[in-house]
Amino acid sequence: MDLQEILHNVIEWAREVGKIQLDKIDKEIEYSSKSTNVDMVTEVDLLSEKIIMDKIKQYYPEHSILSEENGELNKESDYVWVVDPLDGTNNYLHRIPIFCISIALKHLGETILGVVYVPKLDEMFYSIKGEGAYLNDTKIKVGDKDALDQCILATGFPYDKKVSEHNNVNLFCNIVKELQGVRRTGTAAFDLCSVACGRFDGYWELKLSLWDMAAGELIVKEAGGEVITSKINKEDGTEGINIIAGNEKVVSLVKEKVNEIHNYFN
Ligand code: IPD
Ligand code: CA
Ligand code: CA
Repeated sequence: MDLQEILHNVIEWAREVGKIQLDKIDKEIEYSSKSTNVDMVTEVDLLSEKIIMDKIKQYYPEHSILSEENGELNKESDYVWVVDPLDGTNNYLHRIPIFCISIALKHLGETILGVVYVPKLDEMFYSIKGEGAYLNDTKIKVGDKDALDQCILATGFPYDKKVSEHNNVNLFCNIVKELQGVRRTGTAAFDLCSVACGRFDGYWELKLSLWDMAAGELIVKEAGGEVITSKINKEDGTEGINIIAGNEKVVSLVKEKVNEIHNYFN
């Protein structure tokens, strides 16, 4: 597999889908709810997903695809594409200009390529395993802060927050006072990439899905950062991923604060 060639293709697909998302954001958007009444899917999520899945099927017909809206195509392949066609759907519906397209490629369970494109900012984050992380062709690296009161961290809250005690509210209260600041952007992929380029010093969240974080995780690690994860059940019975990202020191500081409330990370 020529990963440089695959990367080139994926970047092109992400740009194409980004243009469509920009074009449609000011028009009337059809939408409905999914796992809870605050978990939305729009016609633009579905269209974006169709375009990306069609490209994967055209270029790499043997590969399997795990994509947010249409589940897994069960093929016996060592390669699995993990796709979030529109990360930040609620932002998109509210015309908040932070949303992105996240595409990762896994080989035998290991992420080998990740692309996150933020159309409104025209920011293309990408990485091939072992070859560093880039933002618009400039190499990026995580920040070097070593105390929480110097850090701006990002976080988010799961869609089942109203009915689950594992909703990050207690963690948030325990951590927020220690920080320089906290941000909630509404897109996990953007949060991870913002850690990778040192814009945010760290990020934690509960109950992500693989498509929210697969590409961003690789990009953070290739930018010299650390990402730790653990598993948790969501209220709808599906498996969620708890995550902390940042430089090694920040991850250990956040992990300590998180584990004071719930022992999510060993
Ligand atoms: C969501 C965003 C959000 C995070 C949620 C995700 P979606 O993805 O990444 O920041 O807090 O857990 O599900 O639904 O906009 O693709
Ligand atoms: Ca998502
Ligand atoms: Ca999505």
